[in-house]
Amino acid sequence: MIGVIIVAAGSGSRLGQGRPKALVPVAGRSILEHALRTVFSLPEAARVVVVAPADDLEATAGLCRAVAGVAAGHLTVVPGGATRQDSVQAGLAALAADVDVVMVHDAARAFTPAAQFELVASAVRATGGGVVPALAVSDTIKQTDEAGRVLRTVDRSALVAVQTPQGFPRAALDAAYAAAAREHTDDAALFAEAGHPVTTVAGDALAFKITTPWDLRRAESLERIETVEPARTRIRSGIGIDVHGFDVDAELWLGGLFWPGEPGLSGHSDGDAVAHSVCDALLSAAGLGDIGGLFGTDDERFAGAHGDVFLRETVRVVAAAGFEIVNVAVQIVARRPKLSPRRIEIEEFLGGLVGAPVSVSATTTDGLGFTGRGDGIAVVSTALLEVSR
Ligand code: CTP
Ligand code: MG
Repeated sequence: MIGVIIVAAGSGSRLGQGRPKALVPVAGRSILEHALRTVFSLPEAARVVVVAPADDLEATAGLCRAVAGVAAGHLTVVPGGATRQDSVQAGLAALAADVDVVMVHDAARAFTPAAQFELVASAVRATGGGVVPALAVSDTIKQTDEAGRVLRTVDRSALVAVQTPQGFPRAALDAAYAAAAREHTDDAALFAEAGHPVTTVAGDALAFKITTPWDLRRAESLERIETVEPARTRIRSGIGIDVHGFDVDAELWLGGLFWPGEPGLSGHSDGDAVAHSVCDALLSAAGLGDIGGLFGTDDERFAGAHGDVFLRETVRVVAAAGFEIVNVAVQIVARRPKLSPRRIEIEEFLGGLVGAPVSVSATTTDGLGFTGRGDGIAVVSTALLEVSR
């Protein structure tokens, strides 16, 4: 599993804002929250350790939990040390045992794109060594003496400027930190001194470190860029399937509606396979398990409840987990009931419950299988969610 250590314990003396740099706001949100939002939007789940300013530990932990949302179980917040190296070591000590690839990231690089984390992690797995994101140096570099006299021009074609996250195989980084005898300016230098290879991947100008007041102004003007973060980091799809057999003695409730004169469906509740499959699709997209896990069959509140009760509760849970519903699509596979006369009605009813467009369609299976024989019905639903925070 991937682990990310975000070091945020520095004082920010060059920024000069009178508070720890990670807690300085940029466009209404702290530098640390900007960095964390990206980490918690990564497609591959990560264990996250935030190394926080010791004097603001509780407040920082609260901010971090709010960003983590449902992923708070993957978050640990620990106090930092006197130097960045001490802070990284504190983060490493708090990292869960199942982490095999660790990335160390400066909170101050608040706008680092998610793709840079993905690139570094996959390069660590591919090479088995250390990986740093790097940018070519564009300025001409000169070496000077104490008096400012130019001694020589350095060949910049061989130089790169490195950023974070820097990625490493976990066991080797642990050992390198345990053996480190002096301060290094970055994790890759410490890792290399322990005898391990380090390679570079392409860095990104957006991963610049907020260091000076000028950088802070630049960060403010970049907030615009963050709001157009790629859809793939904000959108989640989910799927749900439900099947119930017909029970001629029961009433039919489907899509939260009563269908007079139609054979009903058997099941713990009213057998509303449409409502149940929509619940499962929504929970699936939110990564919250399934309807069986959310509503135990022994929960009194839902004994004999109709489908709309389950749907309302599911919508509430999904919203509380930080998602907005974009749309839901439902397909009923059955010989009966005939959907077309009530399609608009069922779409409007379900759309009202979930607060987003719901499309409902139906098909038969050409006489094949249990739905073809008319033994029962099957319903497949998909849901699209957007991360709302
Ligand atoms: N950092 C840390 N613990 C320290 C020092 C630094 O966790 N004892 C973190 C900072 O919070 C920052 C990153 O390391 O995210 C890079 O350090 P830098 O940009 O130098 O931040 P500061 O040390 O806070 O700034 P300054 O050097 O201007 O005081
Ligand atoms: Mg510093």
